[in-house]
Amino acid sequence: MDYKKYILPHIWDLKPYSSARDDFKGSDGIFLDANENPIGSGLAENYNRYPDPLQVHIKDQIAQVKKCSADKIFLGNGSDEAIDLLIRMTCTSESSSIIVCPPTYGMYEVSAALNNVPVTTINLTAEYQLNTDLIIKAIDSTTRLIFICSPNNPTGNLMNREDIYTILNSFKTGFIVIDEAYIDFSDEPSFIQELGEFPQLIVMQTLSKAYGLASLRLGMAFANPTIIKLFNKIKPPYNIGGATQQLVQKALENSHFVTESIQYIKINKSQLIADLKHIDGVLTIFHSDANFILVKFIRAQELFDYLILHKIIARNRSNLALCNDSIRITIGLESENKELIHKIKIFYTKNDV
Ligand SMILES: Cc1ncc(COP(=O)(O)O)c(C=O)c1O
Repeated sequence: MDYKKYILPHIWDLKPYSSARDDFKGSDGIFLDANENPIGSGLAENYNRYPDPLQVHIKDQIAQVKKCSADKIFLGNGSDEAIDLLIRMTCTSESSSIIVCPPTYGMYEVSAALNNVPVTTINLTAEYQLNTDLIIKAIDSTTRLIFICSPNNPTGNLMNREDIYTILNSFKTGFIVIDEAYIDFSDEPSFIQELGEFPQLIVMQTLSKAYGLASLRLGMAFANPTIIKLFNKIKPPYNIGGATQQLVQKALENSHFVTESIQYIKINKSQLIADLKHIDGVLTIFHSDANFILVKFIRAQELFDYLILHKIIARNRSNLALCNDSIRITIGLESENKELIHKIKIFYTKNDV
């Protein structure tokens, strides 16, 4: 793939910010280059020095876990940063566009709007699968990015792998992003292993879900090293803070936590689904490969308001395409799920179905 053709020329030619530590590698020295406070931070641990802009240690750890080389990894302040940088790298408001497949994660459209980039929407099918033929028909000379979310938020299901291959084989004049934020909860392999086969593929993942690190803000984009270099060139130099880097390093050493969390969430998802099936106000429980379920309820809005009143906060997705009367429920602790079921039962007893 001739990457230069699909990257904005001013980005391709950009001379990046040269960071204070570019000229010296090592942690011992008298550092008088970055206008930091030499004394410390007034905390038990010191954070007075700027962090590693390329996050070498965590990338090495992630490379091992994800079985790919470190030069194929970009780390962002959440995957939201990677989404935004990618749009800024490839799209102008005049001559570019992106394709998204609603109902899906809202940030693709928000980032596009923020950058004044037109969006073509091709809704999922009634079964919440990719409308492959329509997507391929919608591709034109302005298409720079196609966003595919699998498992999809808010529907929870994986996209058919064959459909993704069809799109990968049909679109080579821009980039295809597969957002795998919830892949750790599914039984499907990641598309990271397909990067060699498809040079236009960018896979995104995050530590905000199965890894339990949403507050630290660490998102990952996996792509050809040429694309990763461009990400690194245009990102704010110190986009991942030192405290985040330290804590992520520790968390990645504790792989048991992730495995056990996934197991716990899967068991409790099955239980929650089983309990919901006994409630008359529940119309449909959609299949989920993620850590949440989308459920269609009778009088969804009223139920949602009732739950909020009782301090149970779910996500009403009823106003999204193909999601009428549907609420997205994250799998909580066993006790939290029980309380949710209890409150839903009371709601429907009070308000005859
Ligand atoms: C599909 C999807 N992608 C990306 C994100 C953002 O993840 P991060 O916390 O890494 O910004 C989310 C967050 O909910 C999501 O649902």
